[in-house]
Order: sequence, then structure tokens, then C-alpha cells
Amino acid sequence: MDKYFFLETFGCQMNIVDSEQIVALLSANGYTQVDSAKKADLILLNTCSVRDKAERKVYGHLGRFKPLKDKRPDLIIGVGGCVAQQEGEKMLAKVPFLNLVFGTHNIHRLPELVKQAEQNCQRGSATDFQDRETRLNLFPERTFQESVNRFVTVMQGCDNFCSYCIVPHVRGREISRPSDEVIAEVQGLVSQGVSEVTLLGQNVNSYGVKDVEEISFAQLLHRLNDIDGLQRLRFATSHPKDMTADLIDCFGSVGKLCNHIHLPFQSGSDRILKLMNRGYTRDDYLAKVNRLKEVCPDIRLTTDIIVGFPGETEDDFQATLDMVEQVGYADAYTFLYSPRVETAAAKMVDDQSAWQKQQRFDRLLQLQQQTSTAIWQTDIDQVLPVLVEGKSRRSESQMFGRTTTNRIVNFTGTSDLIGKIVSVKINESHRNSHIGDRI
Ligand code: SAH
Ligand code: SF4
Ligand code: F3S
Repeated sequence: MDKYFFLETFGCQMNIVDSEQIVALLSANGYTQVDSAKKADLILLNTCSVRDKAERKVYGHLGRFKPLKDKRPDLIIGVGGCVAQQEGEKMLAKVPFLNLVFGTHNIHRLPELVKQAEQNCQRGSATDFQDRETRLNLFPERTFQESVNRFVTVMQGCDNFCSYCIVPHVRGREISRPSDEVIAEVQGLVSQGVSEVTLLGQNVNSYGVKDVEEISFAQLLHRLNDIDGLQRLRFATSHPKDMTADLIDCFGSVGKLCNHIHLPFQSGSDRILKLMNRGYTRDDYLAKVNRLKEVCPDIRLTTDIIVGFPGETEDDFQATLDMVEQVGYADAYTFLYSPRVETAAAKMVDDQSAWQKQQRFDRLLQLQQQTSTAIWQTDIDQVLPVLVEGKSRRSESQMFGRTTTNRIVNFTGTSDLIGKIVSVKINESHRNSHIGDRI
């Protein structure tokens, strides 16, 4: 009998790649993916716990599946990802109708947990961390998907322990994939028609650092640049403290590397950066940004910023606003600080009111929106190379693609352009995208 699964993914690109692995594993085990929970025999959530809101969302979503389970007791419901890793077995106690919990290092055990639930209604959890060898050997394959751009994992986990962050607790220690494996995967994707690859890791800059024999991340970029047929390379995310001079130089010397970097600064205040355990000062960060701009004058920067970290004063916050003005970010992801269990910051005295934090957040957002608008408007009347990704949702005759600076551009065109780089003259700049004409 045919069996169907429904999978919902929250959180960052790590979870997107993990979900691609989940899809491949379940497909190999007789399950077909469906787009509605109502049609499924197996419902899975791949979860994120980076902020409290994300975590609460998981319980909210699970609650929505309860009526389905009441109607069909043989329905299997499972939770994976970072909330699963954090909560483990406790989740089974909290949610009585939940069948299985699998952590970030246990995706490979999913088919076994599902089988146990199917055969003898056994409830199970698997949330132990694996060592490097086991983890690399168990790195599940993904099925082929026709796409212009794909993510390729180069490293997993994080050793940085920024004081506010749950990620090192739910993803384990840093593990880099052997460069030969990464290069072979990119070659394989390119031979299947992929034009652009984004290399992925919580902190790609520390790629290979723990493995004496391994090449550096900068060297890996040079090697990948040599792959025929690959058009563009990107990476995420970078930690400012590990941005080496070699890596900065890649923005001038690696031809396929795009003119965009996501470089989270989190706070503009040295006092707060220290409390955050970020390992750099404001001046260190700015020196690297200046060097990046020298090497690649057209580079666009994006960042992550946290507002309302414990003890943040008006002066600290002002330093963050100054940083936004000084660097000129094309976009920024701004977050209100959210205390996470097990983290060092959760134990710090936090004497700012929620109202005050929200006020600061709104001021930052306003400044950032003005900055973004001004930066993106400088593209108007320019002719930019755009890698075409697909049909635009705006209208049937429109296509969309991205500039090397990571801006979406909509323009009139046809599907045969997908995967090609075309020249587009930018006419209008909107909140999240440009509109232009192909020339
Ligand atoms: N590895 C990436 C970031 C992963 S989390 C890096 O180091 O750059 C993505 C972003 O979420 C972080 O950059 C940070 O800005 C935000 N974040 C993480 N923990 C948070 C918390 N407890 N409260 C608010 N924002 C948080
Ligand atoms: Fe979290 Fe810091 Fe690691 Fe990024 S570098 S994942 S913010 S601990
Ligand atoms: Fe969230 Fe886990 Fe990514 S906590 S941000 S899904 S690593």
C-alpha cells in the first residue's frame, strides 16, 4: 500500500538541507511526499529553537495535528531538528500523541523510528550526538532536484558559544566535510545543470581549521572556482573573527564568487560584544569591512543584529545604530534578544523593559529600511548581470533572477533563459526586489 508523508521545515538553511535528506531517506523507504497534512500517514516537523517564538511555534503546530490523530490513531507524528535535539524524550511526555523525536545528528535513524511506530506503536527518540567519523559516514544523500541553485554543506555544528546562542547546544561541535567530497558534490550538481552553489555552515570561515591535513576555506573556494560549468559561488554564514586576509582576498581573486557577504555583527558596542563572547571588537570588524570594500568595491553587505541583549544601555544601542550608518548594509536581519536555556546570557541580569527594547528595535528597523532603500536605489539605470532562476510570481510573462549582490530582479522574458546569465537594465527598486528590462 502507498504511504504518504508531510514535512514542514522551520529555521535556517541547515534545516532546509536536513529536510532534503529526510525526503531522500523516506522516499527510499516507500514514502511519497504530499503537500497537506490531511493526506499524510506520517507528519514530520523539522524545527528551530534559535528564539523562543520559533520554539513555541512548534508546539502550536503540533496542537493543530491533534484532531487528525484523534480521527486516525494510526497516523504517525514526529519532530526533528533543533527543538527535538534540545528537548529529547521530554517532548514525548509533553505531547502525548507524538510518536517520535529525532535530533540533528540522527536523521539517518528516522526510517527505523518510523518502522517501530508502524509495527508496534512504539514511541521512540534518538538525540545522541555522533562523533566525526560516524557523522560523516552517515551523511545522507539528497535526491536530484532540478534547480538553478543548491546549498552544499561544508561544515556542521559550532564551537563558538556566543553567550546568547542555542546553536552549539543543538548542533554539536564543528565538523568539516573532506574537501574532496565537497568538490565532488559540486561537480555532480553542475553536471545535473546547477549554475550556482551556496556553501553552507554555521561558521564556514573555520572550515578545515581542526583538521591539519585539510585545505582552508579560501583554498576550497579557489578549487571550486575551477569547476567548468559552475557560474556562481556564494557562502553563508561567516563569523567576523574568522574572516582571514586570505578569505577577504577571495572577493578579488575568485572570479565566480558573488559580490555579497552576510557578516553578522550583532552589536556595535565593544562592551556588549564582549558579553556576547563574539571574539572581535567594533574596530576589528570595521577594518575587515574596509578591506572587503577595497578588494571588491561593488560588494554588498548584509548582517544580523540583536537588540536588547541583557544590560544594553542607550549608549550601547547608539553604537549599533552608528555601525549601521557607517557600514551601510544592503539588508539586515534584526532580532529582539530571546533568552535560551543552557546559554550563558540567560543567567545575566536583564533590567531593560520589553517596551524599551521594542522602541529600540523600531528605531533600528527604521534606520535600516532607509539605508536599504538608498543603497538599492543606486542600482537604478545600471545594467546588471542577472542569473535567471525561474518564472516570476508577478505575472506569466515575467521571469526572475538574482544579481551577484543577491538582489531579486523581475523582468519580461521566457523560460528558456532559466540557468543563464542575462543583462538587465534596472528601472525600479521596490522593498524586496528590482524591476528591469532585458537588454
Ligand atoms: N551561525 C550564524 C548565526 C546563526 S543564528 C552566525 O554566527 O552568524 C542566526 C542569528 O540569530 C544570529 O546571527 C543572531 O543574530 C540571532 N540569534 C541567535 N540567538 C539569538 C537569541 N537568543 N536571541 C535573539 N537573536 C538570536
Ligand atoms: Fe550561534 Fe555564535 Fe555559533 Fe553563530 S557563531 S551559531 S551566533 S554560537
Ligand atoms: Fe534554528 Fe537550528 Fe538553524 S536553532 S537557526 S534551525 S541551526
